[in-house]
Amino acid sequence: MELRTGHTHTGGRDPDSRPGFHIITFGCQMNVCDSQWLEQSLSLRGWRPVPEDKAEAIVINTCSVREKPEQKVYSLLGRLRSLWKADPRVFVAVGGCVAQQIGEGFWNRFPFVRLVFGSDGVAQVPAALDQLREDPGLRLSYLDFCSSYPERERVWNQACAPSQAFVTIMQGCDNFCAYCIVPYTRGRQKSRPLPEVITECSDLVRSGAREITLLGQNVNSYGQDQSGDGGSFAQLLEEVCALPGLERVRFTTSHPKDLHPQVIQAFGRHQNLCPALHLPLQSGSDRILQKMGRRYTTSQYLELVAALRRVRPDIVLSTDLIVGFPGETEEDFEQTLDMVRRIGFDSSFSFKYSPRPGVRASLMPGQVAEEVKAGRLQRLQVLQEELTQHSLDRLKGRVIPVLVEKRGASRFEGQWQGREAGGRVVHFTWPSDQELTGRFVRVRVQTAMKHSVSGEAVKGPW
Ligand code: SAH
Ligand code: SF4
Ligand code: F3S
Repeated sequence: MELRTGHTHTGGRDPDSRPGFHIITFGCQMNVCDSQWLEQSLSLRGWRPVPEDKAEAIVINTCSVREKPEQKVYSLLGRLRSLWKADPRVFVAVGGCVAQQIGEGFWNRFPFVRLVFGSDGVAQVPAALDQLREDPGLRLSYLDFCSSYPERERVWNQACAPSQAFVTIMQGCDNFCAYCIVPYTRGRQKSRPLPEVITECSDLVRSGAREITLLGQNVNSYGQDQSGDGGSFAQLLEEVCALPGLERVRFTTSHPKDLHPQVIQAFGRHQNLCPALHLPLQSGSDRILQKMGRRYTTSQYLELVAALRRVRPDIVLSTDLIVGFPGETEEDFEQTLDMVRRIGFDSSFSFKYSPRPGVRASLMPGQVAEEVKAGRLQRLQVLQEELTQHSLDRLKGRVIPVLVEKRGASRFEGQWQGREAGGRVVHFTWPSDQELTGRFVRVRVQTAMKHSVSGEAVKGPW
């Protein structure tokens, strides 16, 4: 995913004397969260967000979970070279998971890359950009892992918060699933102290956030590491849900092996805990799950789904699936199709297994041919489209609260776009030209499309 800070052109370089920055984000919501913080922190230090071709500092927040997003970074850097050639003041900072992997290796190929930083270095980036601007001969790297979560400057007590905000509750991962590079690029699991998380959530609510998503690679093991203060995820969730004025709470990602019964029960207890859970299954074959080192079986996963549905029958379930893990046979893959059908996921993200350098599975025997992976991915996606259609069809005729995100683009011009509590995208029409972003609107759903539904706003009491 590429997220561009969308700001309008203001003419040539420097109509305003503040230096301009531009952030480009790939990867997961944790990267999006880091970029949002960076944008606020830089703005508070006197920088201003501008389009890429007007920026003095361009920050790329990278992802290396699969080969494709990693390659995108190199082609982007190729394109940015021309901006630097046109104006040698322009420099690039590369952060996130590819930066952690390649580090100062970027410096030889790309002379305009003057800062590399990993996830533990984000807190230092705003000061580093000031320094780099002042000293054109300088290059900096922040790649060391810290032993506890490096707390960042509080920004949401001074700035207007987005209506849908992210809060990182932990960094890193200790699971070492056999295919995954994340434990190498993000380091060991480090939980933030519970009071820090609550302070950030309260700042956000006070500054206008109506929905908060708690983030971590495995939020269910929050607190269970050396830098945690003993609090569990269930406790943290209780406290966040109890914050006055917070209308929606979500969290991601959950590892099935650590999803605690208390967390499941929370879905039945808190009105503001959204009935939606992303629970990565990865494979429907116990043999492959074991090779992946996932430490749960398909029957344990099915029990979790049953327990969740007992507490919250309307819970919207999504998942991640990998096809073509080394040694995956046609039979293993069919078991994945069976699980997906049986559970009836509302949506899923599915990927062809992508060997990552230095990661265990890349050395396993039985690597699956590219065309076999492609065929399996296609079959899985056809099945998921059918299931998603059922899920969206069930919304037809219902009147549901929608938190508005933005005006509809292209095909949906003239409409608004938001999400219902389950996280599904809703397009709707509104009779006047009033600004709706960040507001709750009731929508009567009329049509189910491929990935979203549409309808009309309904006025009147909730
Ligand atoms: N921490 C999260 C996921 C992080 S990565 C979790 O444990 O669920 C997001 C998704 O990318 C994973 O769930 C997995 O499905 C996929 N993924 C990770 N490594 C991959 C690889 N090498 N090839 C293909 N997909 C991969
Ligand atoms: Fe990767 Fe597994 Fe950690 Fe998720 S739990 S980030 S898939 S190692
Ligand atoms: Fe990608 Fe790193 Fe997130 S590899 S998915 S940006 S943790």
